[in-house]
Amino acid sequence: MQNDHLAMPDRLFDLLTPARRIAVLTGAGMSAESGIPTFRGASNGLWSNFDPETLATANAWRNDKALVWGWYQWRTAMVEQAQPHEGHRALAELSALRPGLVVVTQNVDDLHERAGCLDVIHLHGSLFAPRCFACARSCPHQPADPALAARPALRMTPPVCAHCGGFIRPGVVWFGEQLPKASLARAVQVITECDALLVIGTSGVVHPAASLPGLARKRGVPVVEINPEPTALTPEVDLAWQVPAGQGLARLMCPSLDSI
Ligand code: OAD
Repeated sequence: MQNDHLAMPDRLFDLLTPARRIAVLTGAGMSAESGIPTFRGASNGLWSNFDPETLATANAWRNDKALVWGWYQWRTAMVEQAQPHEGHRALAELSALRPGLVVVTQNVDDLHERAGCLDVIHLHGSLFAPRCFACARSCPHQPADPALAARPALRMTPPVCAHCGGFIRPGVVWFGEQLPKASLARAVQVITECDALLVIGTSGVVHPAASLPGLARKRGVPVVEINPEPTALTPEVDLAWQVPAGQGLARLMCPSLDSI
């Protein structure tokens, strides 16, 4: 069965085939087909249903730690029960063919790693790297109770730091906070040195991540967007393939699917 909407544009192969060092910038849409909600989706987007001011800032934490910790435990439980999809696996296959491939992700899940991508830069931190709010020491991750996946509004007291007794916070970047310096510096380097950039599943409205494709464009490096919807970045890319990440990346690694 031929599905023209999902068929891979011929130009995609032309743009990617000569690229030795492929960089991939991913956002929440990359995990959508694994059942993880995006942030700005109209109906089930996290920011359509929850207020970031009360959940994703240092002030929110100071005001109500139990609310914030419970909300991130819910998100952690969802991610722990989710599985990488065919698109995550296709990127891992591509990285085996092009060992220079680096994934720069805004996502705080671990689905790229679980699919087998070895080089993943987390720009916005990770749900699996909690640390002390007071002394910043890292703390071992404890798996979330699976039952929490169905209960987004549960308040939970966060654990305390074994070193200083401060409260442990989620290891993610909140609004108003700096991105981890080393991760951002490496992301800039990777995108400055790549031969092609894939931009997958991001609305392209949160900086500095949204500025990274511009670094590749400035050097004349091909930038390809994979996203079912047009985004703020679409006017700047060389090719916008309007397809869900899982279906698109699976076709990229197995083009014969187009003619099934
Ligand atoms: P958004 O929720 O802003 O955008 C998600 C994008 O994914 C949209 O452009 C959708 O069209 C697209 N999308 C949806 N389903 C898709 C699919 N199956 N395949 C491919 N794309 C799909 O998420 P981000 O751009 O990641 O920051 O948001 C950036 C940052 O804003 C997040 O990291 C988070 C948020 O506030 C922090 O929490 C610091």
